[in-house]
Amino acid sequence: METVVSGIRPTGNLHLGNYFGAVKSFLQMQYEYNCYFFIADWHSLTTHPHPDNIRNSVKTILAEYLACGIDPEKATIYIQSDVREVAELYLYLNMNAGIGELMRTTSFKDKARKQLHIDAADSDGDMEKEIFNEGNKHSVSAGLLTYPTLMAADIIIHKAVKVPVGKDQEQNMEMARRFARRFNSTFGVEFFPEPASFYYSNKAVKVPGLDGSGKMGKSEGNAIYLIDDEKTIKKKVMKAVTDAGPTEPNSVKPEPIANLFTMMDIVSTKDTYDFFNEKYNNCEIRYGDMKKQLAEDINNFCAPIRERILDIRANDEYMTKVARMGAEKASESAAKTLREVREIIGFRG
Ligand code: TYM
Repeated sequence: METVVSGIRPTGNLHLGNYFGAVKSFLQMQYEYNCYFFIADWHSLTTHPHPDNIRNSVKTILAEYLACGIDPEKATIYIQSDVREVAELYLYLNMNAGIGELMRTTSFKDKARKQLHIDAADSDGDMEKEIFNEGNKHSVSAGLLTYPTLMAADIIIHKAVKVPVGKDQEQNMEMARRFARRFNSTFGVEFFPEPASFYYSNKAVKVPGLDGSGKMGKSEGNAIYLIDDEKTIKKKVMKAVTDAGPTEPNSVKPEPIANLFTMMDIVSTKDTYDFFNEKYNNCEIRYGDMKKQLAEDINNFCAPIRERILDIRANDEYMTKVARMGAEKASESAAKTLREVREIIGFRG
């Protein structure tokens, strides 16, 4: 059976972007592949250097994984920091990763800019100057720079061939393949397979935000969470950005409107989508009606998950058991890879 790995950072509750970008694939894949789904708590340290309650955030994701339907008897669910072999592999990969290639990744540049309070429009030179500025009180950590090597270690430690992720992870996946290849060529072995991104619909998924442009994300402040109640969902959807409506039949949809339709395509039935799409094309669309329907469909989707989250969160014993079982299975697989890696490099296996 082919191996699959994916993870989510414990930076808050899961939102619809996480669900349709990643978790939906997890649910499909768990029956057909040897799956490892983890909670990337080490990664959360790169942007939340002082996590107020990491244990709590990890439990949140664990409960939500289970509530979504990941079956701990089928897939191995674990916490990244429980598998220390990952940190050792990260060390080896970092020895062959270039500072230059890491600094050029878009997510590093975006996050470093944010931490340095630099405008996105400023040049890379400005960013570098700030990074090397000794007097800078906002420093950019080596952990943030090496985010992609840690992610590569997560994936190749189990020799995964498929990685279910959303579109925003494409560059990190490219780096993971590069580091796997580089290990093989450095040591003249065919040891690590090159992992490929996996999308349940064969197309990279980007769940949009409803605030006009861009993706849904926690840090974008536009997320609709699986745990949101009916009232909250309605409030968020009714606030979605729209316009005065089309004046010509079959007009191209501007981005905020296209995003509204994309969301409807994801959560509503085809009939519902077609109904509003036709209204749009005939210039008869009433966005208020469309939003009301969308809010209802999102709520119908989230309601059963929300109930299960509350049940599972109340059952600490069960969550501890799942995490312990996952840590054992993941550590066994990781230790096997690492023994071989150590031998390949020339250390005692
Ligand atoms: P993270 O925690 O930001 O997001 C978790 C998953 O959710 C997907 N996602 C989205 N997909 C579509 N549309 C959106 N709006 C959207 N928002 C989030 C992400 O693509 C991701 O699949 N670097 C990873 C965590 C990670 C990882 C790994 C993933 C660490 N190690 C190894 C796979 C394999 C991240 O920050 O995801």
